[in-house]
Amino acid sequence: MRRGAIPLRAARAPEAEFLVIGSGVAGLRAAIELSRYGRALMLTKGHPLESSSIYAQGGVAVALSEEDDVAIHLTDTVKAGRGLCRQEAVRVLVGEGPDRIQELIAWGARFDKVGEKFAFAKEAAHSRSRILRARGDATGNEMVRVLMAQARRQKRIQWLERHFTVDLVVVGGVCRGALVLDEGTGNRAVIPASAVLLATGGAGQMYARTTNPPNATGDGMAMAFRAGAVLEDMEFVQFHPTALYLPSSPPFLLSEAIRGEGGQLRNIKGEPFMRRYHQAGALAPRDIVARAIWSEMAATRSRHVYLDVTHLDADFVKRRFPTIYSTCLRYDIDITEEWIPVSPSAHYLMGGVKTDTDGATSLPGLFAAGEVACSGVHGANRLASNSLLEGLVFGARAAQAATRFAGHVAGSVVPLPSPWDLAEGPLEAMEDADKLRSSLRRLMWGKVGLVRTRESLVSAVAQLSRWERAVARPFGTRRDLEVKNMVQVAHCIAEAALWRENSVGAHYRADCPNKQRPGWNQHSRVEADVLLSGLERSRIRRAAAGSGGKGQSAG
Ligand code: FAD
Ligand code: SIN
Repeated sequence: MRRGAIPLRAARAPEAEFLVIGSGVAGLRAAIELSRYGRALMLTKGHPLESSSIYAQGGVAVALSEEDDVAIHLTDTVKAGRGLCRQEAVRVLVGEGPDRIQELIAWGARFDKVGEKFAFAKEAAHSRSRILRARGDATGNEMVRVLMAQARRQKRIQWLERHFTVDLVVVGGVCRGALVLDEGTGNRAVIPASAVLLATGGAGQMYARTTNPPNATGDGMAMAFRAGAVLEDMEFVQFHPTALYLPSSPPFLLSEAIRGEGGQLRNIKGEPFMRRYHQAGALAPRDIVARAIWSEMAATRSRHVYLDVTHLDADFVKRRFPTIYSTCLRYDIDITEEWIPVSPSAHYLMGGVKTDTDGATSLPGLFAAGEVACSGVHGANRLASNSLLEGLVFGARAAQAATRFAGHVAGSVVPLPSPWDLAEGPLEAMEDADKLRSSLRRLMWGKVGLVRTRESLVSAVAQLSRWERAVARPFGTRRDLEVKNMVQVAHCIAEAALWRENSVGAHYRADCPNKQRPGWNQHSRVEADVLLSGLERSRIRRAAAGSGGKGQSAG
């Protein structure tokens, strides 16, 4: 896995009071908030529009319709979370959600309407129609468009695109900045900041089948872990039931909203099957639908089931789901005439960097919001369309908390290490990085996927530990650093999944399928043993932390 050295070239660091890492919904909303108080630097790898946020289809859940209120939204969210939500965090999400959406509308967001009123759609496990959408199935695109325009108008936000954050810089137990890599030149710089806000999104690329874009490699979780922050509930990976299954296509998402509008699931023999698994049929909670599909695929020895919308009016389908209709047509499937082959795919990580309701992590100076964070709003299973809302609500709150933190440390100038000080030896190139990435994705899919067992997890942990030791070296390129991050985050997920010896929400252990075992409502936590150095630095400590619903804060 070792190949020649890469010269380390340092660049002059730009200056900012606040550092925001990631330009999805959470990062954009956070940067806008921070710019009210000081100068914020928005750092993003690749193109700033490349994020999960921009691909969001179904919509954003918010208690704004006449038939709804925040208490009902809270109940639905907590019910979906299967006893592992932190109620305090859910209260914040549903309570502040309406204001964040109204604000977005005031900034120019155009959500779909019927006549003069907003059109609220239904999705699985929501007891009310409460999903706002834009251009049918392009909600994320619209939200990013508006947030990006708003952020670009703020003079106090600077942009550093195509800059990959390698690591957080911690001095004296406080996060003081970040080490970044210019993807174009290969130069490195340490950027100092009074507070750092992680908004790096999820880690779907860890799995061979995923709805996530290629850049969802779990970098934020890996760097927070290496810096000593606590990760929580990492075993809870949400698999979306319906991603397109074609040998020639990536697993393109087929929104749950399709089932909300009456789409039906059929097995390979053409039989509708969901009623056999849950009274809500195709609108049962996401984990139940995904596992039902898995069972049907096993029972019929097939690689997929079908999603059927052929009974719906064709014009309605084209109007309501324009992106989905045209994308499937590109793969020669006219969804108004043919059943769509679908199977589950990794979609969302409920776990992440543990935060309190203000986005504060266990590492002073480091804040996190959006999919990278685990504030406890989703528990063991995220309610559909709650994550765009989460990015807005907690992006704004984490920014406010970061400014308060910066106020406390104002004036304390701390000398930061240089990129040379931070390199633990000469930079290297990873041999066979693409092969390792692919092996990892297949391992996670096969052994740490929708259905897990003690045996599969023990073997996954052993392999991941070997890989983790092999990649515990400083690498010089974005590609290699992403693979290293994927290995570390995958290891954390597998360890947490091995620790949780029961089945709850998205975490299903075939060897212990029952939920009610002692300790079932504890949160898992993994953290690096930062007292050790070198290879052992990332040794994982597994532990339980408190029980669900108590609303404890990070620390
Ligand atoms: P992201 O939007 O993923 O943004 C992460 C940002 O961090 C990116 O800019 C990335 O480049 C940057 N970044 C990452 N690592 C680094 C690094 N090392 N250095 C610098 N920058 C870095 N949720 C809903 O609520 N409703 C939906 O309808 C919905 N549909 C979805 C459809 C799809 C296909 C997918 C994949 C997800 C969907 N979700 C939906 C989930 C939701 O979109 C995401 O959870 C949410 O957008 C995450 O936002 P975020 O800001 O936390 O992260
Ligand atoms: C979807 O449109 O099905 C995705 C919604 C979500 O993940 O919240």
